[in-house]
Amino acid sequence: MRNIVAGNWKCHKLMNEASAWMADMNDMMANLQGVEVMVAAPAPYLGVLAPLAGRVGLLAQNVGSNPAGAHTGEFTAAMLKSCGVTGSLVGHSERRARFGDTEEAVAAKVDALLGEGLDVIFCCGETLQERQGGRAEDVVFRQLESGVLRLGADVLSKVVVAYEPVWAIGTGQTATSAQAQEMHAAIRGWMSQAWGEEAARNVPVLYGGSCKASNASELFSQRDINGGLIGGASLTPQDFWGVIEGHPSAH
Ligand code: 13P
Repeated sequence: MRNIVAGNWKCHKLMNEASAWMADMNDMMANLQGVEVMVAAPAPYLGVLAPLAGRVGLLAQNVGSNPAGAHTGEFTAAMLKSCGVTGSLVGHSERRARFGDTEEAVAAKVDALLGEGLDVIFCCGETLQERQGGRAEDVVFRQLESGVLRLGADVLSKVVVAYEPVWAIGTGQTATSAQAQEMHAAIRGWMSQAWGEEAARNVPVLYGGSCKASNASELFSQRDINGGLIGGASLTPQDFWGVIEGHPSAH
């Protein structure tokens, strides 16, 4: 099983700050074993960060789904690959809510990444209103169904799922470990139905939403939580290291 702690800087940092973070992070994790560390950086920095990434897996936060062509402002999965990027987030709730990433668009981005052999960190999660309406599992299932459950077993080594309840993102209000585990177990169950139990066990499912050093170990100790996708607490190497150290498999 892959254990992963991934940062998502979102729309933060300038180029020099990003480079310094990469150097500091590599120093801190020089002896780290048991956990893969990744970071999703703003697109303009990716080509510069790739040769500095060292042991940090370098991700994009988004990708276009069209092949190369007359699409001003977009970039392709092949372009990411040519920069040395290892994969991308797809379907983050901020993109779904504010940038028109429909389920169809998200699915096309998944396919574009897999077509280039890049990793897909597929984000899913319900809003507060959906949870309060008792629809959390339905919503997350539907996102997974159109996004990844349709994929063949041959690409599963490239797929990571990140469950990020929208109400927990950037709010300081983390899901309890029981709430998170409950959804992660449901996700594991749907993946088992789609791909069989063993294959489903090997697809990492990360938790995201106000995860930080003080709650990481409790969350990451849950049976179906294989690590985290970290926003605010990934912005300084010190905070991020605190989260990584909280993973029970980190040594
Ligand atoms: P926060 O950790 O800041 O809540 O953000 C989570 C997130 O959206 C990571 O993708």
